[in-house]
Amino acid sequence: MSKKIRVGVAGYGTIGQRLADGVALQGDMELVGIADLAPTLSIRALKERNMIGANGVEYKLYLVDGADKAQFDALDIPVAGTFEELCKSVDIMLDSAPGGVGAKNKANYYDKYGVKAIFQGGEKNSVADVFFHGYANYEKGLGQNYLKLTSCNTTGLIRSVDALDRAIGLEKVAITIIRRVADPGDYHRGLTNALQMEKAPTHQAVDLMTIMPHVNATGILVHTPVTHGHIITVLATAKDGKKITKEMALEVFNKHPRIRVVTMEDGFKGNASFFKYARDLGNRRGDMYEIGLWADSIVESGNDIMYAINIPQESVTIPETMDAIRASMKMQLTREEGTAETNKYLGIGKFKK
Ligand SMILES: NC(=O)c1ccc[n+]([C@@H]2O[C@H](COP(=O)([O-])OP(=O)(O)OC[C@H]3O[C@@H](n4cnc5c(N)ncnc54)[C@H](O)[C@@H]3O)[C@@H](O)[C@H]2O)c1
Repeated sequence: MSKKIRVGVAGYGTIGQRLADGVALQGDMELVGIADLAPTLSIRALKERNMIGANGVEYKLYLVDGADKAQFDALDIPVAGTFEELCKSVDIMLDSAPGGVGAKNKANYYDKYGVKAIFQGGEKNSVADVFFHGYANYEKGLGQNYLKLTSCNTTGLIRSVDALDRAIGLEKVAITIIRRVADPGDYHRGLTNALQMEKAPTHQAVDLMTIMPHVNATGILVHTPVTHGHIITVLATAKDGKKITKEMALEVFNKHPRIRVVTMEDGFKGNASFFKYARDLGNRRGDMYEIGLWADSIVESGNDIMYAINIPQESVTIPETMDAIRASMKMQLTREEGTAETNKYLGIGKFKK
C-alpha cells in the first residue's frame, strides 16, 4: 500500500476535534498530531480519555506560540512538541484555529516549511488559492497548496444545489437561512431571546456564486437563539424555463450520499430531531455528516422548486475537508473518486437503501 498522507490539525475546538476524528477514520491518512493554545475543556476531555480519539488513534498534542506549557504540565496533559515541530512532520495541515489565525500560520509556518493547508470558513478567501467544495469544484483543488472550505451553511447548501444543477441545470436560487446563533456549550453569545436580521445578500449566497458562478444566488439570513443546526429554505429555478417537479428533485436528493432525505411524518419535526437521531445512532459527539432534507418540505411554485434542509453545523464541513486533502494531495483525480473514498471511510451513505 502507498504511504499514508501525514495530516495535522491546528486548533482543537468545535471543528478541529471533528477534523481530527475524520482524519483518524481515513484509512489512507495518518493523524500526526493536533495543536492548541490552552488546556480547554476539549483538551481536558481528551486527556481523560488517555489522549485516545476516534478509531483508537492516539492524538498527540503540540503547543502553538503563546501557550503556557506549565498549565498543561500542572494538569498532567502530555505535550509532544511545538507547533513548528508538528508543521515539519506533516504533508498537510487542517487549520481550524479561530478566524484570522490561519492567515498568520500561513505566513509564519506553512509557507516557510512548504506545508499545504486547508482553512475553514472563518478565514478570508484571500488566504487560499481555491475556495473549495468536494462535490462542486473538486478538480479545481487538484495539487493546490492552500484550499479554503466553504462555511457550514454554504457546504450543505451547495450539496443540494450542485446536485440539482448537475441533474437538471439551474439558473438561480434564492435562500433563507435560519441560523443557529451558537454551538452547544458556547456561552460567549450570551443568553438571548430574540431573532436578529443580517443585511442582504447573505454571504452564503455570494459564496455559492464564487464556486458556482453560472447560478445566480441571493438570500436573507436570520440569527436564531438555538444551538442544534441551521435550517435553510431554497427556491431553485431551472435554466431555460424548464419545470422542476417534486419527483425530479426527490430523485436527485435521494441519490446523493451526503443528503439524508427524511419526513416530518416519521418524526423529524425540526433541527433538534436530527441531533437526537445522531445521538441515538451512537455517532461520536452526536455528529451527523449528512445534511437533512425534508421530503415533505419540497413544494412546486410554478416552474420552480422549493425545499428545506438542516445543517449540522459542527460536523457538516468534515467530509468536504477530507475531500480537500484528497484534491490538494492528488490522492484521487476526480470528484467522483475523491468523494467516494471520503464517504467510504466516514461510513457516509450506508443508510441509503
Ligand atoms: N463552529 C461551527 O459551527 C463552524 C462551522 C464551520 C466552520 N467553522 C469555522 O471553523 C473555524 C474554527 O471554528 P470553531 O468553531 O471550531 O472555533 P473554536 O473556538 O471552537 O475552536 C478554536 C480552537 O482553536 C484554539 N486556538 C486559539 N488560538 C489558537 C492558535 N493561535 N493556534 C491554534 N489554535 C488556537 C482554541 O483554543 C480552540 O480550541 C473557524 O474558521 C470557523 O469559522 C465553524
